[in-house]
Amino acid sequence: MNKEKALQKITYLREELRRHNYNYYVLSQAVISDYDYDMMMKELEQLEKEFPEFEDENSPSKRVGNDISNDFKQVVHDYPMLSLGNTYNIGELNDFDKRIKNIIGTDTPYLYVCELKFDGTAISIKYKNGKYIQAVTRGDGTKGDDVTTNVRTVRSIPLQLQGNDYPEELEVRGEILLPHKEFKRLNKEREDIGENPFANPRNAASGSLKMKSSKIVAERKLDAFLYFVLGENLPSDSHFENLQKAKSWGFKISENIKLANTIDEVFEFINFWDTERNNLPYDIDGVVIKIDSLKLQDELGMTGKSPRWAISYKFKAERAATKLLKISYQVGRTGAITPVANLEPVQLAGTTVKRASLHNADIIKELDVREGDTVFVEKGGEIIPKIVAVNKDKRPKGLPETKYIDTCPACNHQLVRNEDEAKHYCPNEYECPPQIKGKIEHFVSRNAMDINCGEATVNALYEAGFIKNISDLYHLTFKQIYSLEGFKEKSVNNLLKSIKKSKQVPFERVLFALGIRFAGNIVAKVLAKSFKNIDNLQRASFDELIAVDEIGDKIAESIIAFFRNSHNIKIIEDLKNVGLQFEIKEEEGNTNILKGAKIVISGTFEKYSRNELKKLIEQNGGKNTGSVSKNTDYFLAGDNVGPSKLEKVKKFKINIISEDEFAEMINKQ
Ligand code: IVH
Repeated sequence: MNKEKALQKITYLREELRRHNYNYYVLSQAVISDYDYDMMMKELEQLEKEFPEFEDENSPSKRVGNDISNDFKQVVHDYPMLSLGNTYNIGELNDFDKRIKNIIGTDTPYLYVCELKFDGTAISIKYKNGKYIQAVTRGDGTKGDDVTTNVRTVRSIPLQLQGNDYPEELEVRGEILLPHKEFKRLNKEREDIGENPFANPRNAASGSLKMKSSKIVAERKLDAFLYFVLGENLPSDSHFENLQKAKSWGFKISENIKLANTIDEVFEFINFWDTERNNLPYDIDGVVIKIDSLKLQDELGMTGKSPRWAISYKFKAERAATKLLKISYQVGRTGAITPVANLEPVQLAGTTVKRASLHNADIIKELDVREGDTVFVEKGGEIIPKIVAVNKDKRPKGLPETKYIDTCPACNHQLVRNEDEAKHYCPNEYECPPQIKGKIEHFVSRNAMDINCGEATVNALYEAGFIKNISDLYHLTFKQIYSLEGFKEKSVNNLLKSIKKSKQVPFERVLFALGIRFAGNIVAKVLAKSFKNIDNLQRASFDELIAVDEIGDKIAESIIAFFRNSHNIKIIEDLKNVGLQFEIKEEEGNTNILKGAKIVISGTFEKYSRNELKKLIEQNGGKNTGSVSKNTDYFLAGDNVGPSKLEKVKKFKINIISEDEFAEMINKQ
């Protein structure tokens, strides 16, 4: 394809993908299948790879993030990010209304805009000529952190505005949040790899924005609602109208906004959402009431750090009293113990609550909660109910203090607790049934080996004594599976077929499936790419491991501990023998032409940018190194190379190659 055609196609694909992205993430109305979308994206990525000169950091393909470590420089806000005065009290809202009348005069008509108060993390985003250019956190209100790269991965935030009537310079503000469904998935994943779960979606959202790797942020599936438009030339004097305009430019604006003529209409909105919030797929913690007219907003001004023209009404967390019947203890895949409160069923925020997490021994001690106590359970917009207090007045006399268990409820092994961790662990990894079953369940799961085998089947196979570890799966016989309740010829064959098929699962997923603590699917991908096969990974030293982007001390230590364990080595050997993939298949377009050659890039180039050259070196199996040494194989020289560098190159007799020669070497010409 020639350049002109390629650009045409790239532009077309970007526009189409933008449109589908908007339909899916903003309007929640997909008009093409996931498959077709993925195919278009693949085509775009391929063309962008072939024609790097048409790179655009706001291309829809850039939503997946990258490996480059964020450094979050501080940025001063053009307009300070104010906070809102808040109240839990209807009476105070009446006072707010009166204050407004007093200032603007009783004859001046005004409207309120009622909005939901999203419980996430605030963000301010700048656009220039319709293009996304910067996103900054609230910080201290005056300056925040530059999180542009991470926010680019939030699919509901447009990277290119629609229409042609947006102001040349525009700033929008809103809330980044994590919907319940994604929060649950993320926490499950974290618990699965031995990470602490997030306490609530808000923490998960704000934590995500500060991640070093935007690639991981992209996987978190954050969402955003915009509720504020700023700039010199806004289309209307009405905040409500401006939000509707912003909607037409492609922003996700909540449907649940109401214009209210009187404070009584505001109360109606509040009452409605106080119960209806339980049906939203994300958390809100109240309602925000704003004066609609920007002119009046100006006139009303500020007090301290908050505007006089807006206020938030916060919902009280719903609370119920019930009896704590029993504290039981769960053992997770990693051996982590979680105490669970079993409650007398009670109605709370529209659901019946029977259980609440007690998290760890410290929380139990702090609450001084005992079996037989009457406890208060809260669901403050959060998903998992929690015990917030004990009603000590109702405590029956002589109720014994809770003694935390010191042996595993499943295998009786002595528990341990590491100094810097809140949870107790059962270290009996290879004999403790829930840990064994948990490891196998993780191994067969969709993102791992994708073996068609649910929790019940894993349990049945384990109880029957057919599997004691992951590699036993590959030695199961027809007869064994057939002997299980509920299995017929066809279902046995399906399971065997699916086990066989898993032998083709690529190395990175096998690595994830092994269940190395802290090695989630992205870390596994990074490890597979960097070390190419399991033997290299096994031999890698601590320093070699942490030299890889995204691999910190904690992960490196965990990998080393994993490979030191003879039990794991034996299982890997067995898995190798049955034919699982323990090395990466080279990606399409990748070659090994440069086979480990160390190449220094210097000077300025015509055809490729330095980043492109670096990428090409890596894609072809070479290594881009920073400074010239006797180990350098090639010196890739552009124009204006410094004389001292050239001298060094000559001294070490290093091969000097031009951009064209390099392109020829890797068959790019
Ligand atoms: S307006 C000057 N509208 O609540 C007004 N804020 O203290 C600026 N929030 O951290 C905010 N939903 O992130 C506004 N519909 C909404 C909101 C909202 C949530 C958050 C905001 C800020 C806090 C206000």
